[in-house]
Amino acid sequence: MYRELPVDFSFTASEQSALVKRLEGIRISPYKSYSAFRHELRMLVANDPNVVRLRDFMEGRRRSSAYEKPFVFLENCPIDSVLPEFGNDNPVAEKHDKKKTFVAEAFLQLYAEVAGEHPISYLNVNDGDVFQDIFPKESLKATQSQKALGPINFHKDLANHYVRPDLVNILGLRSSEENEIYTTFVSNHDLLNTLSPSTQATLRESWFYTPYDDLTVMTGNVQLGKAPDHAVPTREVDFRFFENRTEGQNDAARAAVMDLKAALHANKRRVLMRPGDFVSISNNLSLHGKEIGCIRNEAAQRLRWSIKTVNVHSIAPHLPHVVPGSDYLVNG
Ligand SMILES: [Fe+2]
Repeated sequence: MYRELPVDFSFTASEQSALVKRLEGIRISPYKSYSAFRHELRMLVANDPNVVRLRDFMEGRRRSSAYEKPFVFLENCPIDSVLPEFGNDNPVAEKHDKKKTFVAEAFLQLYAEVAGEHPISYLNVNDGDVFQDIFPKESLKATQSQKALGPINFHKDLANHYVRPDLVNILGLRSSEENEIYTTFVSNHDLLNTLSPSTQATLRESWFYTPYDDLTVMTGNVQLGKAPDHAVPTREVDFRFFENRTEGQNDAARAAVMDLKAALHANKRRVLMRPGDFVSISNNLSLHGKEIGCIRNEAAQRLRWSIKTVNVHSIAPHLPHVVPGSDYLVNG
């Protein structure tokens, strides 16, 4: 069983159980009143003694380079003691109906507050929920989206959206060690150390095309048109790439895509996310995906569940794209 990212921080059993108890007391639904939910977590983070060690760890983390280390891996994080079971036809609606505690959501918000991050949501993705499920959905099971049942190629989230998240934070809720389902990670730092200068030069030309992502196009509320051609590394070290979707528009560009694919798989790290495992991914400094090996329990595969947020460092530069009156809901 792979666990190839180093664990950066573990909650102790007593911190974990105290936080579960405290967060289970939250009665405000983040799906009905996100701003009030966020406010409650801001108050809690300022006072709760079980957050002190995490805050000290994150202080230290701020002094290290996110380019060299774009992943933060925490374990034994608080999650709900009761996790309702959903079918695969309309799992988000079932969650809204059946999930009565919000410990996992509260932890994602808590982490964002401690890390100085700002969760955002999109009108086109899960109808604007900040907390999104990685959970298989029948109608989207064959897609390259968070609702897929199968593998997901290397990508960054919302790569060609005008509001790109800086961070993708994922908390494991339910998984089975019988199933080889791995979340995969690769840092742009490792890719750039591996790719030849000539491949890198080709990748920097605007010779690549990536269609908009499945979830936005198939379930969205706003029409986006066709995505423009682009370079792969933008802003020096930021890769705009979706494995098997990003296409070179000429022979040199197609060869560079093959080199990049080989580099992804040579440098990847795989983790079987257990309940309470949390990874914060620097979305502009790395790529991630999902890989599937042997499945021994198909029923468990259909119930595998993680919850996530996408966060930005600051909402200020994105305010022109935010729904008026909101400070987190992106109009797109
Ligand atoms: Fe993703």
